[in-house]
Amino acid sequence: MSVTVVVGGQWGDEGKGRIVDLLAQKAHIVARYSAGNNAGHTIINELGEFKLHLVPAGIFYPDKLCVIGNGVVVDPAVLLQEIAELEERGVSVRGRLFLSDRAHVLMPWHPLIDDLDEKLRGKGAIGTTGRGVGPAFIDKVGRAGVRIADLVDPEALLQSLSFLVPYKNAVLEKLYGAQPLDMETVRAEYSDYGARLAPFVTDTSALVQDAMAAGDAVLLEGAQGSLLDLDIGTYEYVTSSVPSSLAAGAAIGMGIGPTQIDTVLGVYKTYNTRVGNGPMPTELLDETGTLLREGGPRPEYGSTTGRPRRCGWFDAVAARYSARANGISAAALTRLDVLDSLPMIKVCTAYRVDGRETRGMPASGAAMASAEPVYEDLAGWRQDTSGVRHFNDLPQEAQAYVRYIEGVLGAPICLVSVGPERDQAISIKGII
Ligand code: GDP
Ligand code: IMO
Ligand code: MG
Repeated sequence: MSVTVVVGGQWGDEGKGRIVDLLAQKAHIVARYSAGNNAGHTIINELGEFKLHLVPAGIFYPDKLCVIGNGVVVDPAVLLQEIAELEERGVSVRGRLFLSDRAHVLMPWHPLIDDLDEKLRGKGAIGTTGRGVGPAFIDKVGRAGVRIADLVDPEALLQSLSFLVPYKNAVLEKLYGAQPLDMETVRAEYSDYGARLAPFVTDTSALVQDAMAAGDAVLLEGAQGSLLDLDIGTYEYVTSSVPSSLAAGAAIGMGIGPTQIDTVLGVYKTYNTRVGNGPMPTELLDETGTLLREGGPRPEYGSTTGRPRRCGWFDAVAARYSARANGISAAALTRLDVLDSLPMIKVCTAYRVDGRETRGMPASGAAMASAEPVYEDLAGWRQDTSGVRHFNDLPQEAQAYVRYIEGVLGAPICLVSVGPERDQAISIKGII
């Protein structure tokens, strides 16, 4: 048995999709366990470039099973669209994609409330992806959600809607002064989605448990990043996924036990990015920030919303903190090639808050907002690394940088990626 969780160690978009795509070669099942279509995972292979929001990144291997677990919130329209696009581009989906009957459904009021809430917050807006994922998780916790098992059962759907539509209309009209939704329109649209998704629906926890018992390898694909987590992230500028996208959330979101997880692989970029609002101590608003965003073959723009990503130096304080919170046992480092032209690279080793240096991550939002980075300078390599496939062929300074980050994370770096394409990777510990 081998179960590996792939988690983002920063503020999301670390390259989890491309790492899962690589590791999927050795898995039987690839599964998403948290979040919703706020995630955007880029995979580049012989069929072209794909941005997956709900379907796991293992879908490109025709012999793999892909699972959307109970911890995910599913917008049925987005999932159906994603399936249709994959099929149009020659990727087989039917018979190998399975959707948990316990996953929650993103309903039409969720994106409306997401947008209205952001407007209410004004200057304090979170900068959400606007997909309704936060409000859908709030309803899950508030016991006002619709699950896939209800979506595919017209009677159960009608029963849920007869409570939820008037309830949500009251919220829309009385709290936000917005237009109400029409019960019959919602029922007709969602029962149609239910009928179209029904062939994919199953008890995915049982499916994965049976596969594990038969010795199959399972790869659990995290979404977002640890610093966006409700508990350990930069609250309130976080995402609302329940269970969390942290490694610990993988067990709950998949319906397996924590003792069944063998490896926790943290994915980190060689620098930091963030989309949306909230503190980011190493953010660079100068030409180096622009270089990090625009340099390299895939510029830093959100895979879901297209927003420019805020870019800055590698934050070792935050990275060490997230590595520990996830209990990572291995790491992958992405986008090394983006640093290729820099003569010098900075790493933030501590924060200065109220005149005092700390290596711990402050809980207070005000402290995080005022934290000034304390930097250590490391030598750059000023050489193209995009064609390198063996660690020893990297320039000495690049090797030293990888080893430095390994020391920060306290776990072996098994993979380094030097470009967005599947083969642009260096396997260090024989993980692929
Ligand atoms: P995810 O959400 O963690 O899966 O990451 P995204 O797909 O949202 O963002 C990562 C971006 O970096 C995508 O555009 C990838 O194609 C790109 N990428 C991944 N690895 C590398 C790499 O090693 N070098 C470069 N230049 N781009 C990469
Ligand atoms: P992947 O899986 C980067 C961010 C949003 C916003 C905050 C809350 O591609 O790494 P939400 O819509 O979730 O309520 O927004 O979280 N966010 C992400 N940022 N990558 C993601 O996913 C993200 N998912 C949510 O930008 O700051
Ligand atoms: Mg992404």
